[in-house]
Amino acid sequence: MKKIKVRLGERSYDVLIGRGLIGDCGRIIKRLRIGTDAVVITNPRVAALYKKSIEKALKRDGFTVRFELVPDSEKAKSLSTARSILNRLSRYDVNKRIFIIALGGGVVGDLAGFVASVYRRGTPYVQIPTTLLAQVDSSIGGKVAVDLSVAKNMVGSFYQPRVVISDVSAIKTLSLRQIRNGLAEIIKYGVIKDSALFKYVESNYAKILKLDMGSIEYVVFKSVGIKAGIIARDELDRRRVRAILNYGHTMGHAIEAASGYSGRYDHGEAVALGMRVAGRVARGLGLIKRSDAVKIETLIGKVGLPVAIKGIAAPKIYAAHLHDKKFTRGRNRFILAVNIGNVRIIDGVADSAVRNALRSCIDN
Ligand SMILES: NC(=O)c1ccc[n+]([C@@H]2O[C@H](COP(=O)([O-])OP(=O)(O)OC[C@H]3O[C@@H](n4cnc5c(N)ncnc54)[C@H](O)[C@@H]3O)[C@@H](O)[C@H]2O)c1
Ligand SMILES: [Zn+2]
Repeated sequence: MKKIKVRLGERSYDVLIGRGLIGDCGRIIKRLRIGTDAVVITNPRVAALYKKSIEKALKRDGFTVRFELVPDSEKAKSLSTARSILNRLSRYDVNKRIFIIALGGGVVGDLAGFVASVYRRGTPYVQIPTTLLAQVDSSIGGKVAVDLSVAKNMVGSFYQPRVVISDVSAIKTLSLRQIRNGLAEIIKYGVIKDSALFKYVESNYAKILKLDMGSIEYVVFKSVGIKAGIIARDELDRRRVRAILNYGHTMGHAIEAASGYSGRYDHGEAVALGMRVAGRVARGLGLIKRSDAVKIETLIGKVGLPVAIKGIAAPKIYAAHLHDKKFTRGRNRFILAVNIGNVRIIDGVADSAVRNALRSCIDN
C-alpha cells in the first residue's frame, strides 16, 4: 500500500492507494475515531459489486452499517437526492455516532461529500473511490457539490474527507470507456506538472488499458501526489495555483454543457477534447512548440479518447464557454501548456483565437 498525505493543517488526511483495500476499510477507519455508525452512500451498480465486502469489513471492526442507494447517473447530484438522504439520515440518527462513506465514482463522491458537509453542519466522511477518474481526481481536494439545472456543481463547498481509500483493484470492473476517462485526467497531470508521468503514459498506455495493476497503481500514485501538492498550496482555489487543474476543462465543461449533458461525451472525454482546443489556442498564441502540441494530441488519440468534436455546433460550444463560472468580469480564462510539464494561466484570450481553435477541432 502507498500513502500520500494531503497537508492541510488540522484538515490533513491520507490517501491510501493499493490493491484489496476495500476489504481492509474497517481497520483503516477505526483508527480515525470518527464514529461508530457507517452510512454508505452508493448506487445500485457499485452496491452489486462491493456491498457484501464493505459490509463485512466494517462489521468485523464493530461498526453498524446502513446503505443509502442513489440513482446511477449525474442526475443523482441534485438537491432533491441530497434532501431525501438528509431526511432519512436524521430519522435514523438516534443514539448514534454517524459518519458517511462515499462508495463509487465522482457522482457519488461529490453528492455524499455534499451531504456530509451540511448534515449537522459537518459530519465526518470517507471517500472510497471506485472509478479511475475518482481515484485520480474527484475524491481528493474536498470540492463537494450538487448540480442545478443551469449548470453543474453550482451548489457546494470545500469539505475535506478524513481519509481516501483508493482500492485500485476496484477498477477491474469498469468499462474501457471509464478507464479512458480516468486517463484523460492522468494525461492532464502529466501536461500541467510532470513530463515523466506523461512519458510513462506514452510508453505504458496499452498496459494501463489492459488493466495491468502495477501500471495503474503507479499512475494513480503519481496523479494523487500532484493533486495533493496543488491542494496543499491552494485549498480554496483562490491563489491561482489550483486553477491549473482546470487545464482542458474550460472547453471541456463547455462541450459537456453544449451537449446538454446528454451522455454524448463523458467528463473525461470532454476534457480530452478541451485539451485539444487548449493546444490549438496555445499554438495560435505561439506559446507552445508544434512538436509538443502534437505529442499531446497524439497521446490523447492513442489511448482512444476522442480527438474531434462531433455532433455539436461550434457556436453552441462557444456560447456555453461564456457561462464558465471561473470567468470574471467578462474575461475568459484558459490554462495553456507552454511545454509538457508546464502551463500558464492566461486571462482574456481574444475571441477570434478561441473561435479559430474551436473550429479546427470540430468534425461535423
Ligand atoms: N470534486 C471534484 O473535484 C471532481 C473532479 C472531477 C470530476 N468530478 C465529478 O465526478 C463526476 C464524474 O465521475 P466519474 O467519471 O467517476 O463518473 P460516475 O460516478 O458516474 O461513474 C461512472 C460509472 O461507473 C460506475 N462505476 C463506479 N465504480 C465502478 C466499478 N468499480 N465497476 C463498475 N462500474 C463502476 C458508476 O456507477 C457509473 O455508472 C462528475 O459529476 C464530475 O463533476 C468532481
Ligand atoms: Zn475533470
